[in-house]
Amino acid sequence: MLKKELNDLVTQTGPGTPMGNLFRRYWLPALLSEQLPGPDCEPVRLELLSEKMLAFRDTEGKLGLIDEFCAHRGVSLWFGRNEDNGIRCPYHGWKYDVNGNCTEVPSEPTSGYCERIKLKSYPMVERGGVIWVYMGPADKQPPLPEWEFATLPREHSYMSKRLQASNWLQALEGGIDSSHVSFLHSASLSRDPLFKGAKGNQYNLNDLSPVFEVVEADGGLLVGARRNAEDDQYYWRITPWIMPCFTMVPPRGDHPVHGHFWVPINDHACWTWSFDYHPTRALTKEEVDAMKGGASIHVKVDKNYVPLQRMDNDYLMDRKAQKEGLLYSGIEGIGMQDASLQESMGSIQDRTKENLVSTDNGIIMARQRLIKAARALAENPDFELPGLNPEHQKVRSVAVLLKRDVHYKEGAKEHFKSAPGKPHSSV
Ligand code: FES
Ligand SMILES: [Fe+2]
Repeated sequence: MLKKELNDLVTQTGPGTPMGNLFRRYWLPALLSEQLPGPDCEPVRLELLSEKMLAFRDTEGKLGLIDEFCAHRGVSLWFGRNEDNGIRCPYHGWKYDVNGNCTEVPSEPTSGYCERIKLKSYPMVERGGVIWVYMGPADKQPPLPEWEFATLPREHSYMSKRLQASNWLQALEGGIDSSHVSFLHSASLSRDPLFKGAKGNQYNLNDLSPVFEVVEADGGLLVGARRNAEDDQYYWRITPWIMPCFTMVPPRGDHPVHGHFWVPINDHACWTWSFDYHPTRALTKEEVDAMKGGASIHVKVDKNYVPLQRMDNDYLMDRKAQKEGLLYSGIEGIGMQDASLQESMGSIQDRTKENLVSTDNGIIMARQRLIKAARALAENPDFELPGLNPEHQKVRSVAVLLKRDVHYKEGAKEHFKSAPGKPHSSV
């Protein structure tokens, strides 16, 4: 359990909060490239870390992320006209460029008044089908993100995002807690087209008491789950967490590797980003079609990226399928199986009331690392945060059989590192 002050510290990411300052030091996924497809396209309202902003692409194709509200009298610029290299407020015609500079105040054409007006703005960069944002101090901007999926040819990966009605931390904690897989997702392992047919599923289903061994890594943690396998071997599934909010799911057979980012919108909601990629081949049409239909960790969403299964329709709970064992919780889809339970905890889980057990070690260590890093950064603005170094980001999840007397940190050492053209380790 966490004391209330610590629960507040890890869950609150608004401007000026310790965890908010920490998040603002990383490049964060902000939008799918498809949301800003071309010059002068529709702008997008975007709230991140409790800041309401407007993203747009200007006539030259440049990306901008600026304060959502007009400096004149506070109108949302989402209603604006995206034209001639800027967003024009529809109320009285003030105009802003991608850097938030006011370029025109029509009522004051000659006074130079507009030169004194600037909206807040943040840099954005496009990479791997994702538009990333950096919201921290300009002089602390880190190197560009080097996550493997973002550096592969586009046809190797598939990316989706969905709104989650919970604080970012309980979503992240679901990504670290691989002990729930043998329960919540058990029925889906043998049915989902992106999981089924793998030998690893049998180990998962045959051993419901995995032993967890969590170790610190440069960028965060490695969460290893050990299950019995034949002879003298263990089946290890190893989930990396890289600070602050990136986790990966170990692959099965020749299926792709999966992973998530959990990015705070405000303290009560987050964007769950889900990606699948294969390091050495393009995804097949069947795989991509299945993901678009909600397979693997993806979810069917509406045009605003809100899941079609959600709290107000009880996530389309199917009690019959639950009773018959077709779906362990009665909720369809791995992604919504997770989200439904995480949202059921309340928008911010009250961690003063929880009772943690040994399978929660990964969660405990992640919280400690986050708290320690946020405090260190508050003390020293030059503190070197884990996960900022691009080398920390060149990581993979691993599924592997190892001799029983070999620790995974040694035995799987070579498999954690991503490298171009290197096959992934999967069972
Ligand atoms: S409120 Fe935007 S121009 Fe007046
Ligand atoms: Fe899950």
